[in-house]
Amino acid sequence: MNNLLQFRRRCCAAAVLAAAWALPSLAWSQTPIVVKFSHVVAEKTPKGMGALKFKELAEQKLPGKVQVQVFPSSQLFGDAKELEALLLGDVQFIAPSLSKFDRYTKKIQVFDLPFLFDNLEAVDRFQSGPAGQGLLTSMTNRGLIGLAYWHNGMKQLSTGKDKLVRPEDVKGLKFRIQASDVLEAQFRALSANPQKMAFAEVYQALQTGVVDGQENTWSNIYSQKFHEVQKTIAETNHGVIDYMVVTNAKWWNGLPADVRKGLSEAMSEATVYANKLANDINEGDRRKIAEAGKARIQTLSKDDVAAWRKAMEPVWKQFEGDIGRDLIDTALKSNK
Ligand code: LMR
Repeated sequence: MNNLLQFRRRCCAAAVLAAAWALPSLAWSQTPIVVKFSHVVAEKTPKGMGALKFKELAEQKLPGKVQVQVFPSSQLFGDAKELEALLLGDVQFIAPSLSKFDRYTKKIQVFDLPFLFDNLEAVDRFQSGPAGQGLLTSMTNRGLIGLAYWHNGMKQLSTGKDKLVRPEDVKGLKFRIQASDVLEAQFRALSANPQKMAFAEVYQALQTGVVDGQENTWSNIYSQKFHEVQKTIAETNHGVIDYMVVTNAKWWNGLPADVRKGLSEAMSEATVYANKLANDINEGDRRKIAEAGKARIQTLSKDDVAAWRKAMEPVWKQFEGDIGRDLIDTALKSNK
């Protein structure tokens, strides 16, 4: 390469770099700042409603300064891409389920341990305490800041089979799971075959028999119509699906202080709103599923639940090293 060409290339690269560094301030000088919030569920779910509330509050608190665009139902990014998109700056807020962060922090796997939390109130106590709050900032070294926990609800188990009462009823069946090693171990403990799959693909996989079953909250089952392609939903309440609203640390810390403050306040208020709604939405959707009369809701006796617990509990030991016994004990203490 001749010297002139080399010189030009170097100048050009320097110019691109300089432009990239200038980008944030350029972006802030353009008003309003466009803030994209992408998620994978439907609008009439706890997370869907929370995101819309956040938009409303943020735009109210920062008139003309920010515009929040909410993209539900994996329209912008699905499970496989949303964390990467956040780190690349293609989106500014996402709220993945707590099961989807295990590549970023192993400790967060505590939320996936089966039968660890008795109910959503216990989950809430754990999240509000020092250990839960500590997890919000445990991924800053990976470029992620957790701003809030949002509730969905307890998980139920569904299959395309008539009988779903005891752990032996799922032996050999294929289950869609979220991208979580704990959930994989949970289904292996049941002698079933787990398959990691993005949320947007689940309905079709159930419909076509690629998988036999799945686990989810009533609101996700209803809004995705899983009950239309499953025969039985057992009321196991064996785990939890909750969310962490996360943002890109560099973007967040680079925001003008007044904008960051307004967005923080909007997030706190939207969190209170969404977390109050979660139980009602799930109970309402359970009712609607029962009324639709497609999948049968299988209630379980104490003895049945104990059998599921016994079958799944070995998973705790498997992940104790990664999560830490102290964190598991703290979580357990939140079951009053
Ligand atoms: C799932 O993948 O089943 C859930 O995490 C979807 C969600 O965001 O509630």
